[in-house]
This record gives sequence, C-alpha cells and structure tokens, in this order.
Amino acid sequence: MKEEDGLSGLPGFSPKTPPVWVQTGAGERYPVLVGGGGIEALPDLLSRRAPAHRYALIADANVDGLHGERVLGLLRSTGARASRFPFPAGERHKSRKEWVRLTDALLEWGMGRDGCVVALGGGVTGDLAGFVAATFMRGVPVVHVPTSLVAMIDSSVGGKTGVDVPAGKNLVGAFHPPRFVLADPELARTLPRGERAQGLVEAMKHGAIRDRDYLTGLEAAADALLDGDPDQTTAAVRRSVEIKAEVVSQDEREGGLRQILNFGHTLGHALEQCSTYRIPHGSAVAVGMVLEALLGERLGVTEEGTSRELIRALERLDLQVDPGGSLPSSVRTLLQNGTALVDATRMDKKARSGETRYVLLRRCGEVDPGSGWSRPISGESVRGLLLSIFAS
Ligand SMILES: NC(=O)c1ccc[n+]([C@@H]2O[C@H](COP(=O)([O-])OP(=O)(O)OC[C@H]3O[C@@H](n4cnc5c(N)ncnc54)[C@H](O)[C@@H]3O)[C@@H](O)[C@H]2O)c1
Ligand SMILES: [Zn+2]
Repeated sequence: MKEEDGLSGLPGFSPKTPPVWVQTGAGERYPVLVGGGGIEALPDLLSRRAPAHRYALIADANVDGLHGERVLGLLRSTGARASRFPFPAGERHKSRKEWVRLTDALLEWGMGRDGCVVALGGGVTGDLAGFVAATFMRGVPVVHVPTSLVAMIDSSVGGKTGVDVPAGKNLVGAFHPPRFVLADPELARTLPRGERAQGLVEAMKHGAIRDRDYLTGLEAAADALLDGDPDQTTAAVRRSVEIKAEVVSQDEREGGLRQILNFGHTLGHALEQCSTYRIPHGSAVAVGMVLEALLGERLGVTEEGTSRELIRALERLDLQVDPGGSLPSSVRTLLQNGTALVDATRMDKKARSGETRYVLLRRCGEVDPGSGWSRPISGESVRGLLLSIFAS
C-alpha cells in the first residue's frame, strides 16, 4: 500500500492485497479492503479514516449475537465510547419504523455530530444503518463491515442507502458513501449456504457483464464457494468489488454505465414483486439474467448460446433457472401468466417515462451499449418470449 493512502502497515493486509478505491460523485474516494482476518485492522482503520468520539454499532440480532461482542471490543480499543444498537433481522425491518427507533436511540445515547455509525451485517443492515447515518444530524460518517456475501459483493459498495416503504422497496433513501468498507470473508463463515448462493448470483452477474473468465472461474469454484472456502471467497469478493467499484466510480447515480449492474434485474424485480417477495432477490435475478439473455438472443443482440452458458453457471449454485427445464413452481406459474410480470416491469424504478428498459448482453462478459447502456423493449416482445418458451 502506498503511504499516501494513509493505510500502510495495517495488520491483516499484505501489500499483495491493496485496497480497491471507489470514486464518489462528490469527487472524494473511499477504500474497500478485502482480506481474511482483516477485522483486526478495524481500530486502526477507524483511527485513520473515521476518527470519532462515539461509535454506534448497528447490526441485526443474528449478526449482533454472532459478532457484536467482538466488534464492540475492537471499537472500544480505539479509546472512543461505543455501544451496540441491534434491530430485528429481516427485510421487513429495513423500515421507516426502525429508522425512527434507531435515530431516537442514538439521540438518547447522546451521540452528536462527532459520532460515527458502524454498519455490521448484510445488505439490510448496510442500507438501514447507512440511511440512519445519512440523516442523523444531517449526516454523520458511516463505515461498512459487511458480513453476508450480498453485502460484501454488492451492497456495501456504491453509496446507496435507504428503507422500504409500502409503495415499494428502497423508495426512500439517500446517497451516503462510507468512509471505508472492510470486508473480512471470515465473518461470512457463519452465513447459511442458501444465503451464500444469493450473493454468488450477483458475483456471476458481475462476470456476465464485465469478465467472462471470472464467470467461468465462479462456475468451476461453485462448490467450494457454497461451502465457504475462505480463499475462494476472498478471491471472489475481491474481483466483484473491483468490478462494481470500477462501474460506480464512473457513474455513481445510474445516469449511464451504472445501469449495467441492473442486468437481470428488470425481470428479476418483477418476479420478486409479483411473488410478494417470497422469491428471494438473488434467485429472482438469476432467472431474470437467463430470461434477459434469451430476450437478447431473440432480438439478435446477444450471441446465441449465452443463455445456456448462464444457465450452466447458475445451476452450479443449486438454483433452478432453466425456463426450458427445471424452475421453482412459483416462478413457472408467474412466467406462464406473463401479463402480471410485464405489468410489474412498467412500475419498476428503472422504467423511464413509462417505457421499460433492459440491459442486454452482447455475450458473456460484455454488455451491449444499446442507447446509453440499456434499451427500451416493448411488453409485447417480452410476452412473446414467454409464450414461445412455454409453447414448446
Ligand atoms: N445498497 C445497495 O446498493 C444494495 C445492493 C444490493 C442489495 N441491497 C439490499 O441488501 C438487502 C439484502 O442483503 P442480504 O441478502 O445481505 O440480507 P440481510 O442483511 O437480511 O442478510 C441475510 C440474512 O443473513 C444473516 N446474516 C448476515 N451475515 C451473516 C453472517 N455472517 N452469519 C450468519 N448470518 C448472517 C442476516 O441476519 C439475515 O438473516 C436488500 O434489502 C437489498 O435491497 C442493497
Ligand atoms: Zn441485485
């Protein structure tokens, strides 16, 4: 690590694993550190990049129970005051109600502008705690210590924070980039296998949009990754962070390139929504990627065989994603009655002026530039695709 990074000599990080830097829209930058055992570097990192008089450790009850005590000890070893603020686990607690409760609890604790929020957990915690930090006294620093693969690979990088509201997911929020992200894959050892698969879908998406060799490597290492192999996990988190960092550094606010991260998400979100969120996000996006690849093939934009390649890789994560083969019955039913699904895509945040836009691949590893990295596709085309799949 270079001295000017202010990060040289951190325990837990060898010079072979320099931080990945993310550029923010405001012209600042923050490091993402990835390394097994890296959590021990937390006090040092906080002192260098987020010095504060108080650290509020926000974690859901599961993660707080598993890792809260240890991380609290690390926070206190900086000499600052620190306290734990747990909240109930689960997407339904990424809510305004929890935001109210947590901000009130921080006020009662006496945290001021010189405090800092440490978000320890999965994507729900990162989004909720990030939003608390973004709004508390008009903004205090936040540090992300992701513990799920979704959070390490995806949600802790990019600065988006927020809560869900009755009208939809993530509809109230703010951009609030962290001071740094510390991803220690050893913390994910306690993560259930099914949750690992959810995160690895986003990793495969990164391969699909930017790096075919990475996709192939993930496919080959899928068993080890699902079992939580530390070296494979560290390598995957690192490559995904590099890809996401490169994309969001060029376009923080999704005006252009950042849209490519939405590959698989237009139909994926529609599946999630139509199932009233019973289909988990990663599983829905996995099917969404396959369908959007098929759509691209049908329109002559995506190379033939791309959907097959994606199916092969995603099936290695123990997910059923093949519209022509095996699919979970809930997904099959929604695809067969395509109208509700197509209607749901129209309400998506990504639907600009009523038209639904899709990110299409040229081939695995490369997105078709379209018109501004996505293109409008009519509901008729999508319905036609679904009909043709199930007519055969
Ligand atoms: N901000 C962004 O850019 C962005 C990007 C992607 C996803 N997200 C959001 O992330 C959320 C999904 O994230 P998620 O899948 O991590 O959900 P989550 O935070 O609910 O975590 C999933 C489950 O795993 C548990 N868990 C987390 N780490 C663990 C560990 N180390 N050991 C044992 N259990 C652990 C949690 O308690 C929870 O029960 C969604 O709300 C989504 O909107 C945000
Ligand atoms: Zn996603």
